[in-house]
Amino acid sequence: MDYPGRKIWIADREKLLDLFVRTWGSLSQEAIGARGRFTAALSGGKTPVPFYQRVAEFPDSFPWGKTHIFLVDERWVPPDHPDSNYRLVQENLLSRAAIPPENIHPIPVSEGSPESAAHRYEETLKKFFQLSAPGEFPELDLIVLGMGEDGHIASLFPGHPALLENQNLAIAVRRDGITPDRITLTLPVINRGKHILWVVTGKEKAAVLKRILEDKERTLPASRVVPGRGNFVFLLDQEAGAQLSW
Ligand code: 6PG
Repeated sequence: MDYPGRKIWIADREKLLDLFVRTWGSLSQEAIGARGRFTAALSGGKTPVPFYQRVAEFPDSFPWGKTHIFLVDERWVPPDHPDSNYRLVQENLLSRAAIPPENIHPIPVSEGSPESAAHRYEETLKKFFQLSAPGEFPELDLIVLGMGEDGHIASLFPGHPALLENQNLAIAVRRDGITPDRITLTLPVINRGKHILWVVTGKEKAAVLKRILEDKERTLPASRVVPGRGNFVFLLDQEAGAQLSW
């Protein structure tokens, strides 16, 4: 987990919000300057909500027309369900910013099965990023991650075989006796992100963060986020960082 692109910020909530929006702003400016568009994949969960709301406050002159939003993961529920990540992102960012509807790329949950939805999302990604050769993966400009108290990221849970997926871009995740099923981007996609912003707040995450950052427990899904060339920035509040010794 130690490599040049990694940076860890431990700060109060306001400073984290500021870092998040400033990073989003500069990455999008850079990406649009270089490639004409900015691509971001967003996680669900409660933690990023105020961050998305803050990004939505960018002025209308912000290049929303060149901003494309994907989802890191989704639950197998209708898009208007309270557990839907699309709904969360829609309410807190998309409905508040002038992002054209065609620039929003939700994980399709309205028909078929989680497996067919994962396949369709993979096709969406391949088409958008013009990938044709087997083994090619997209390089998103920004990937926003959260983390569960068990060390999961996206919908990649400890001990689940989905963690080992190295061919597909998106896969279905079913867990015995646990609903809803999920669909998630896979580690090869996450690890090819040009910039990963990992937002972790609250004292309930402190113990697992220590296991990842200090004890270097490699079995936890969060420890498997090792971007090849990208930058990897942790945004932690003081409560989440409380058990770190530095
Ligand atoms: C989701 C996620 C997931 C999330 C963590 C943390 O949709 O649930 O993408 O990986 O980031 O579960 O969730 P909280 O922010 O609610 O603690």
